[in-house]
Amino acid sequence: MRRKEMKMAIMKRPDKAPPRMATPEEIEAQRIYTERVRTALASLDAPKACVVTYGCQQNEADSERIAGMLREMGYAYTSETAEADIIIVNTCAVRDHAEQKALSITGGYKHLKNKKPSLIIGVCGCMVSKADMSDRIKRSYPYIDMVFGTEMLWRLPEILYRVMSEDKRMFFPNLGEPIVAEGVPVLRESGYKAWVSIMYGCNNFCTYCIVPYVRGRERSRRPEDIIEEVRGLVRDGYREITLLGQNVNSYGKEFGNGCDFADLLARICEIEGDFLVRFMTSHPKDASKKLIDTMAANAKIAKHFHLPVQSGSDRILREMNRHYDREAYLSLIRYMREKMPEICISTDIIVGFPGERDEDFEDTLSIVKEVGYDMMYSFIYSKRTGTPAAEMPDQIPEKITGERFARLIETQNAISLTRNLPYEGRDVRVLVDGRSKNNPDKFSGRTEGNKIVLFDGDDSMTGRFVTVHISEAQTFALKGEVITEK
Ligand code: 5AD
Ligand code: SF4
Repeated sequence: MRRKEMKMAIMKRPDKAPPRMATPEEIEAQRIYTERVRTALASLDAPKACVVTYGCQQNEADSERIAGMLREMGYAYTSETAEADIIIVNTCAVRDHAEQKALSITGGYKHLKNKKPSLIIGVCGCMVSKADMSDRIKRSYPYIDMVFGTEMLWRLPEILYRVMSEDKRMFFPNLGEPIVAEGVPVLRESGYKAWVSIMYGCNNFCTYCIVPYVRGRERSRRPEDIIEEVRGLVRDGYREITLLGQNVNSYGKEFGNGCDFADLLARICEIEGDFLVRFMTSHPKDASKKLIDTMAANAKIAKHFHLPVQSGSDRILREMNRHYDREAYLSLIRYMREKMPEICISTDIIVGFPGERDEDFEDTLSIVKEVGYDMMYSFIYSKRTGTPAAEMPDQIPEKITGERFARLIETQNAISLTRNLPYEGRDVRVLVDGRSKNNPDKFSGRTEGNKIVLFDGDDSMTGRFVTVHISEAQTFALKGEVITEK
């Protein structure tokens, strides 16, 4: 009986419906709503919109689409919530901390609404699609006007128009039909680096992860649409294109039309111009030798591979439902290094997954040492209600996860430095990001391998490739002098 109850508590997996394209009529309907909002806004003096983003690159990309739609509707963009006429908070649900932050910041907007009752506040993104969250927002945050999940994003013009014209709060948290909508306008934050989503959703159901429940099933964009978008970006002078998906390696599986992720990359590399292609995230179970060969054969693909291992213990990997073991992962790494000796490799690791014993954690430390990652993103396991792992016995106490986390970081920091030291005395090509946020007297950029480089520069370099002679390697950055500008 207890087992049955536990099963019930786990969210039901949504059905595997095949994706479809939004029809021209559906896209046209959103264009008409856009015009209607524009007309309604005409009486306002320079209305402004602010989008506040939490979470991953996929959310950053979604926010650029939200900002793009708002611009078409007649809003100017502002980064100041206090001067906005509409605020959209794009939330993350991957860890509890991100959720708490989004909720507390949204709570803080109540006083803005009191000051300016016409202010419209929307909350979107992964958090609002979680079971009960939309109802909770409805009950506890009466000043929030609209809520929409990631799958509803392209219908923002309609949702906003209905908020404005019906004077009602709108709640659309639920996963709709799996639809790919092309032609949504984008307001890009950068003029030289662009995110390009190639697919949405995830089918993997790693047992700790909320993403498949809130972002729905995998659906890929058509290769022609992606290539057209990249071609346009390169024409507009973009220097770095990052292809995004929760698991880019399963791109195109649902088409069965012979264009897998490696083929897509190869076709993108045929576009003329001086640009770099990055991609994230890869799932080791789907990363293929063909993909690695394609990377090795194309100078335009940045020699950086982000390959989340999550744990070094075969037992924990099974419990996580990851569908690979330590040896399969290591053999991929060996193949990568054989084909591209200069490759930089990064990873994600979760510490304190339920049932993780000391020996499992030792396996994680040992795989970290064996691979010798250039960079690592490590996370303390966060229990996500509705996922299978939340129901697993033997959740690890904070004290133990904290200690393991500190040991992992210490181990990785020493490795990062070891990986950076050979760069001393070398010349590296760097795409300049501008003045460094942490070291304002220096400029900063990234190598192909995604390493941070600090140097003396000027604003004219931002968004351009330069060559930097590295004089000092540190744990988190390389330091040097610009020797040629291109
Ligand atoms: N707790 C901690 N980390 C998580 N991640 C995903 N879900 C959780 C969770 N419940 C991490 C994984 C993933 C990265 C984006 O976030 O390492 O690769
Ligand atoms: Fe989450 Fe796993 Fe999908 Fe990544 S592959 S989004 S970790 S379920």
